[in-house]
Amino acid sequence: MNTTDRRNWLRTVALGGGFTLLGGVSAMAAPAPAPLRRILAEGPVKLNSNENPFGPSQAVRNAMVRQMDLGCRYPFQQLYALEKIIAAKEEVPASSVVVTGGSTEGLQAAGLVYGLQGGELIAADPTFQSMLTYAEYFGAYVHRVPLTESLHHDLEAMQRHITSKTRLIFICNPNNPSGTLLDAGQLKDFIYANDQRAVVFSDEAYYDYITVPDYPSMVELVKEGRNVIVSKTFSKVYGLAGLRIGYLIARPDIASRLREALMANTNMLAILAAQAALEDKEFYQFSIAQNEKAKAHIYGELEAMKLPFIKSHTNFVFFKSGMEVGPLIERMADRNVQIGRPFPPLTDWARISTGSMEEVQAFTSALRDVLNT
Ligand SMILES: Cc1ncc(COP(=O)(O)O)c(C=O)c1O
Repeated sequence: MNTTDRRNWLRTVALGGGFTLLGGVSAMAAPAPAPLRRILAEGPVKLNSNENPFGPSQAVRNAMVRQMDLGCRYPFQQLYALEKIIAAKEEVPASSVVVTGGSTEGLQAAGLVYGLQGGELIAADPTFQSMLTYAEYFGAYVHRVPLTESLHHDLEAMQRHITSKTRLIFICNPNNPSGTLLDAGQLKDFIYANDQRAVVFSDEAYYDYITVPDYPSMVELVKEGRNVIVSKTFSKVYGLAGLRIGYLIARPDIASRLREALMANTNMLAILAAQAALEDKEFYQFSIAQNEKAKAHIYGELEAMKLPFIKSHTNFVFFKSGMEVGPLIERMADRNVQIGRPFPPLTDWARISTGSMEEVQAFTSALRDVLNT
């Protein structure tokens, strides 16, 4: 097969959803994980959803292919095994673990459980919306509290909004879209002061990317028996966004209420993938290192373009482009680069995900072109 034939074949296989072959091909193509766009050989530079283009790791692909036959079974046994593995990792009892279809399902289940019957929620603005819009759909009221000037959670203002109707306080830490991280002591104090009035939900989707040494997960407070729920995901550092698997950690009584509110659940292959991903320490480190490299490139270029940005504890960077984000999104798309959606009221800011070096270089050169710098 010559190079062009091979590339066309690869593309056909990949676009046709030929998972098994795609996994095999990627193993042949490169010893280090190859980013998706290099495998597909075309398509947009997709930096709009904070995905990890290097996943699933080769070990995960192998595990899925090897166990594909189990697709005819319900996944109860495997789910239980994964709950036990997660429980050991997080050092909680298995009854504290709720595996979900992406962490989105966990966020929505919590929004439902605490938002029904006129329950009120408190959240930052802007922040990750999945729980909030879902709860609103079912009649909850969400108090949206603006971020501070430095785009951190304004915990004092959030505390002032707590009333007898407040059921849940949503804290996305690090926050999406700002990428900011709360001071660990400040967050713990906030929880100690308020968790008797409302459950505090700590969304830790980006926890693995935090660069502050020994930054604590709020799972620590779950272990202390506090009124806290933590969500985590396999979509980011493990690169499994398309497989839809995440989990919640909470006190067993809270966990069992949340478990009852799940609707989609996850699936056999995602469970097997998550198990293999947790064992693949090499890919985990690789993902973090790639993310740091890509972020350093983005920072350097934004500095050179004199565009303000926030040092991020995630796999994306929030920057002030100086133009309305709507037209910026369009002009970047004309140059084949997809960037994050608008985050009102910060409409002259834009969010860019990290990707492979080729992708972030394509982003910065398109941005220079659009802004004429
Ligand atoms: C803060 C935050 N939480 C949760 C999610 C949902 O991720 P998933 O449903 O893929 O686990 C995302 C996705 O981007 C996110 O940014």
